[in-house]
Amino acid sequence: MKIALTGTPGTGKTAAAGELEKMGYRVLHVHDLVETFTIGYDEKRESNIIDEDALARYVQEIDDPQLIIEGHVSHLLGCDAAIVLRCHPEELQKRLKNKHWKEEKIRENVEAEALDIILERALEHHEKVWEIDTTGKRETEVAEEIAGIIETMPPPHYGEIDWSEWLMEHAG
Ligand SMILES: Nc1ncnc2c1ncn2[C@@H]1O[C@H](COP(=O)(O)OP(=O)(O)O)[C@@H](O)[C@H]1O
Ligand SMILES: [Mg+2]
Repeated sequence: MKIALTGTPGTGKTAAAGELEKMGYRVLHVHDLVETFTIGYDEKRESNIIDEDALARYVQEIDDPQLIIEGHVSHLLGCDAAIVLRCHPEELQKRLKNKHWKEEKIRENVEAEALDIILERALEHHEKVWEIDTTGKRETEVAEEIAGIIETMPPPHYGEIDWSEWLMEHAG
């Protein structure tokens, strides 16, 4: 069983995954594989171009009864289920500012979060999808919620998080 832990950059995937590792869960950080599977560089987006097919093949060959695969493309790697971390755009903006991201990249990602982009992508690839709103929660709390989902496999849960009000105020 492989579980993708995905979400817009800044929603807290790596932080929550770190807590899950402390709890004893095995985690694969996609970030650690990026270099191996990089086939170019996108100047405009200032990000590496990844050979997603090769990465997906690599992940599919891992034989593990329970592995969390953490990263914002983890929902593209043939996992069995996906957990999508969400964060209110206002708070996400603050988190990315703290990480000293460039204004333009912050805007791009905050808008993507407001538009549910990663959720939609995850739903294109998975039936079992759960969303977790991390807004105002501690990293340990988020990790506990993730562990709860992994242990109990409740029915899929998504679609209730709605940042459209923020989007209306900030559109254009
Ligand atoms: N639940 C949370 N509450 C507040 N801040 C958080 C939370 N999770 C992560 N952060 C902070 O937000 C930033 C982005 O977290 P990170 O785990 O790197 O996100 P991601 O891996 O999804 O890009 C970090 O500075 C981190 O300390
Ligand atoms: Mg990360």
